[in-house]
This record gives sequence, C-alpha cells and structure tokens, in this order.
Amino acid sequence: MMTFKFIHGLVFLALMAGVFASGPSVAAPGDVENGEKIYMKRCVWCHGEEGEGDGPAGDLLVPPPRDFTSGLYKIKTSPFDEDFPNDDDIFRMISDGMPGTDMPAWKDILKNEQDRWDLVAYLKAFAELEEEPGTMVDYGAPVATSVESIAKGQKLFHDGERCSECHGQDGKGDGIKKLKGDNGERTWPRNLTKPWTFRASNDTKDIFTRISTGIPGTQMPSFANPKSKTMLSVEERWHVANYVNSLAKTDKTVRAVNTVVKANRIEGDVPSDPDDPAWDTAELTTFMMVPQIFEKERVFTYTNDTITVSAFYNDKEIAMLLEWDDRTRSIPGDPNIDKIADKVPYEDRVSVQLPVTIPEGTQKPYFINGDTENPVNLLSWRSGTATSPESVSVANATGSENIEERDAANFGLMAKSAYKDGTWRVVMKRPLSTENAQGDLQLVEGRFIPIAFANWDGSNSESGTKHSRTTWYWLLLKPANSAKPYILALIVAGIIFGGLLWWAKAARRNGEV
Ligand code: HEC
Ligand code: HEC
Repeated sequence: MMTFKFIHGLVFLALMAGVFASGPSVAAPGDVENGEKIYMKRCVWCHGEEGEGDGPAGDLLVPPPRDFTSGLYKIKTSPFDEDFPNDDDIFRMISDGMPGTDMPAWKDILKNEQDRWDLVAYLKAFAELEEEPGTMVDYGAPVATSVESIAKGQKLFHDGERCSECHGQDGKGDGIKKLKGDNGERTWPRNLTKPWTFRASNDTKDIFTRISTGIPGTQMPSFANPKSKTMLSVEERWHVANYVNSLAKTDKTVRAVNTVVKANRIEGDVPSDPDDPAWDTAELTTFMMVPQIFEKERVFTYTNDTITVSAFYNDKEIAMLLEWDDRTRSIPGDPNIDKIADKVPYEDRVSVQLPVTIPEGTQKPYFINGDTENPVNLLSWRSGTATSPESVSVANATGSENIEERDAANFGLMAKSAYKDGTWRVVMKRPLSTENAQGDLQLVEGRFIPIAFANWDGSNSESGTKHSRTTWYWLLLKPANSAKPYILALIVAGIIFGGLLWWAKAARRNGEV
C-alpha cells in the first residue's frame, strides 16, 4: 500500500530488525506458544501486549489496530449472523495485510506459513475463540459481469439510497454522514472508485462477501439479513457486486511510468471552466500524494491520496485542470461542513509548485517549497469560506520557513472550481510569460519543466505544513505537429524515474501500490 507515516517508518524498521533475529521455527499446527513469541516480536507494537490494539504505535493510527479481545474481525467469510470469522479469514489478513491501513502484509516477512497459522491460534486465544464457525456466506450461482447485470446493480445501489446513502451518488464515499466504528473511532465509507484502498479486494467475490456479511465493528451493514429493509437476494448481491467492481476509475489510477503532464496546444482560448467539454479530450496523468512527514508539523492521517492533472496551452496562456476526490467540500462557516468535520475546518486547498527557473541539469529545488539556491513559485487555490469566495494566491519560497506572498492579480493567476459528488475540479490559468522574468517561471514549449502538487483537506484539519503532496514530476508543453519532443520526454521521464525510485520506496509502506 502507499500509505506511509513517520511513526510507521520507525515501526517498520523495528520489524525489519526482527527479521534477522528470528530463526527457523518448527511448530505444531496452531501452536499458541510459538504464535505468542512471534506476536511479541512483530505485532505488539501496534496491537498491544494484551491484544487490545493499544501498542505504543497504536495511538497514532487511523484506523486503529484491531482489538483482538473482542473477537470481531472486519474481513470475514462467515455469514452475517456469525459474529466470528473463519480461521482462513484471519490467516488471509495476516498474510496479505489490509490495504489503505497500517496493517502490513506479513507473508513476505513471515515466509513460513506455519508461523502465520500459529499467530491465528494466538490471536483467537485473546477472545477465547475456539471452534471456527466453519460456514460461509451463501454464494449461490455467481452472476458473471455484463452490461445488464451492472445496470441492475446500479439501480439496487441507489434504490432508497441503499448504498449511496453512505457511499455517495458516484460511490466516492461522500455520503455526508458522521460515521463512527464500534470503538468510537471516525470511519469513512470506502471510496469505491479507488480499489487500492479496499481492505480485502475489489474482486467481485470479495465485494459480494462484504455486502453479504457486512464489515463488523463498522457501520457497513449486511445486506443478507432478512430483518433489514434493504436486504438483497443472492442474485441481487451479485449484480451490486458487478456494479461496484465496475466503478474502479482505471483512467485515474497511478501508473509509475506516467511522470509527465502533457499540455496540448490549442487554437483559440484555453478552457477556463472545469465543465468546459474541451477537457474531455485532454490527456490525464495521475500522481500519488503522500502525507507531509518530512518537516514539522507532520501529518499522520491524510485523506486525499491521488491528484489527476491535465492541461492545454495557447500562445499566451496555460490552463491546468486539477482533479482530486475529497469527501468533504470544506467551506468554513458553512453549517454543512461543521456537521461532518471533526474539528474546526479549514478551506480546501491545492497548490502547484514550479521552479523559478527551469533547471539546466538534474538539480531541482528541494521538493517541499524549494531551497535558498533554488526558489520556487507556489500557485494556490482555496475553496473560500461562508463569507468569502474561492480565491487564488501566489507566493515565492526558498524553503518552508521562507514563503513570501505576492500579488496574484499582478501575476495573472486565475482559478475556477466545481465540486460534485466527492470530486473537486479546479482550473488554474496563468500567462506563459510574466513581467517579472527574474522571479517567475517563464513557460516555454518543448522543455521538461519540474512541477509538483500539494493538497489540503480542510475538514481533516489540514493547513500549513499539514497536507499531502507529490514529489517533482514534469510539465511538458507539447509543440504542435511534432512527435519528437514527446518521445524524448518519455525517455527522459524513464531515466528520471530511476532517480525517483528511492523516494517512491520510502513513500511506500509495503509492497506494490
Ligand atoms: C504498524 C502497525 C501494525 C502492526 C505491526 C500489525 N498490525 Fe495488524 N492491524 C493494524 C491495523 C491498523 C489494523 C486495522 C485495520 C482496519 O481496521 O481496517 C490491523 C488489523 C489486524 C487484523 C484484523 C483483520 C480483520 O479482518 O479485521 C489482524 C488479524 C491483524 N491485524 C494481525 C496482525 C498480526 C498477526 C501482526 C503481527 C504479525 C500485526 N497484525 C501487526 C496495524 C498493525
Ligand atoms: C450506513 C453506511 C453504509 C451503507 C448503507 C453501506 N456502506 Fe459500504 N461501507 C461503509 C463503511 C463505513 C465502510 C468502511 C468500513 C471500514 O472502516 O473498514 C464501507 C465499506 C465498503 C466496502 C469496502 C470493502 C473493503 O474490502 O474494503 C464496500 C465494497 C462497500 N462498503 C460496499 C457497499 C455496498 C455495495 C452497499 C450497498 C449494498 C454499502 N456498502 C452500503 C458504510 C456503508
């Protein structure tokens, strides 16, 4: 998974240190004693000595580590009226981890399967679980995906707001409700368009299972329960599962090879409205954002993990469309946001970072607000408050301590936003060249211009250094009628990507995205 938080880095190092200390283990099936030994080395940090989810790192994690004394597990295949999971379920989560959370996949570290089974035995002992239920949800006759099945599923998803009540109209988890898990922790309905955040997976069978048995300990209910007004038959649940599976936004998936925002040249005006149909023909590039954990104040929990960018330019201006999923439209002073935000909300914000001069070599400014030798331009948009409209600002920076606000109107920066069904779409427009050639980046065709993005979810109390951000990528103003620079861009991007790997590795907690 792609989440990485400071403390987790430390925990992970501790865990890795343990790798070398452990010898081969010879254990009987479900050996509780061996399970305990491994637990005390690997799991205790987060799950705590007594299994109550209160290890030293536990406090900082959202969602919090499982409290094993309750015996409740989120990802289970036993029917909804069985409280407890099957042993295979626990084994699977230990082996594969829980994407979108800090629960690592252990199969690469605890290579011996028996060790993982011994852990299953030990975890069950915390809740004195003995026999496993041994029964599974009724899968009936699986319905293969098809246009008809997806259409039926879509209808059932929205009927009486069965799922959209929490997951929103487009499935982005933006149903405006304050949901809490059984332990009082804040939970958010899953953004169903981002399959990499699913705790299990977005395979149709996994989705079917979740719909059938619910997610214990959270407000995600079972739809197999005949007592529920929103109950679904087995066949209906397959249709809904096919629909949910179809929601995955593959055009907005992070792809490691995509490191360049490709601005196409157009005749006439650049689109300045996010709803301008011209954007339908733009080339999208999606970047991964990670929490800002490199400088104080760090952010440990963040909500927006990707940003999608496209751009057009003409002989005078460039317009960039920045899109990201945000469950909450944070307008401080708006009673709607006070209902959903945990604390006093700030404005939502996005910012584009560009170097003041295009570097000649590979040396780029420090990726967080530049450095003394390499200043950056920061072009920002803010969502506005109940009493003030959305706004833009321009600043020059030579490090986070040294950010100097400028006159945005003088610079020529303009922005226009639209928020719908859990997605912000913001167009930022600026002239290619400005009068202040010393202090502003002058945009030119056919060069690889470093570009980075930062994003603030105001209702998650993100402001200042608390935000998520990308590393440096590239902006290329593609010259019309020439494929050459484009091909070159890809080659250069490939080379640069190698250099970026260290960063991506550090940003990735475990395994592949
Ligand atoms: C870095 C912190 C961390 C470590 C170390 C860790 N876990 Fe977890 N674990 C979590 C978190 C956080 C969750 C809850 C995720 C959620 O609720 O979505 C979790 C959940 C679980 C679950 C619940 C699965 C379910 O379906 O609800 C199991 C089982 C589990 N961990 C086992 C282990 C075992 C065994 C180890 C040691 C080998 C371990 N964990 C180490 C953070 C950790
Ligand atoms: C009352 C609110 C609510 C309703 C109604 C609801 N969900 Fe959820 N759903 C949630 C929450 C909260 C989560 C995240 C739980 C967690 O913290 O792990 C979730 C998670 C999920 C997941 C993620 C599974 C995974 O592996 O991570 C899927 C898929 C899902 N819901 C599908 C549905 C479908 C389909 C419906 C309608 C048939 C539905 N939900 C109705 C609240 C709801």
